[in-house]
Amino acid sequence: MYLLIPAAGIGKRMGSNRNKLLLQVRSQPIIAWTLLAAQAASKISWIGIISQPTDWPDFKAILADLKLTKPVELIPGGSTRQESVYNGLQALPANAEQVLIHDGARCLVTPDLFNSCAQAIGQCRGLIAAVPVKDTIKVVDGQGIIQSTPDRQQLWAAQTPQGFDVKLLKQCHAEGVRQGWEVTDDAALFERCGIQVRIVEGEETNLKVTTPQDLAIAEFILTSRGL
Ligand code: CTP
Ligand code: MG
Repeated sequence: MYLLIPAAGIGKRMGSNRNKLLLQVRSQPIIAWTLLAAQAASKISWIGIISQPTDWPDFKAILADLKLTKPVELIPGGSTRQESVYNGLQALPANAEQVLIHDGARCLVTPDLFNSCAQAIGQCRGLIAAVPVKDTIKVVDGQGIIQSTPDRQQLWAAQTPQGFDVKLLKQCHAEGVRQGWEVTDDAALFERCGIQVRIVEGEETNLKVTTPQDLAIAEFILTSRGL
């Protein structure tokens, strides 16, 4: 299975002066933990890291350190996640029929979750890992007034990995460019094109490291795993 890792952000909400994926958690950069999980997932056979060329010296140093046995390619990122994934899709080997996309910032993903998503994409055209939401979610207008309370039974928090048929995802991205859609994940492009996306049960610990507090939580989870 081919894996694309969007890793080309700037980490604005982290408030650091560099790509947050290069920050350390338990003596490894965030991106290194993500790569180690991908390396350990038996069903992943190729890894494309989508990243800004200005970060490539750092990424190359990390790769030299990790000595992964799977083929890894660096692919130039875009100015949004959507553009970065678009670039990644163009850089996939021509024989890639399906792809998993996993945010570099979700460094607590387990090899098992990669494998179960890789397995499940054999039976459908699009899927995402997701977990049921625990909070009651409110829809609020611009004035801070609640408009509605969606039924929690129907609400899931989207994670990555997300898996897709490559040909379809390329078509959906192209349609997104034509229509000027701006989305924060690839499943949203499938949805807008009217193509079904399935849920695979994700993991509570598969958080996206976004803010400084998340660094502390990630550190705690890795420690509790004995890492
Ligand atoms: N990403 C990317 N290309 C971009 C923006 C984001 O590949 N132009 C990647 C990030 O590196 C991250 C994932 O998409 O692995 C999810 O994005 P997010 O958590 O929002 O990371 P950043 O965009 O770096 O953070 P922020 O939004 O706080 O700036
Ligand atoms: Mg972002």
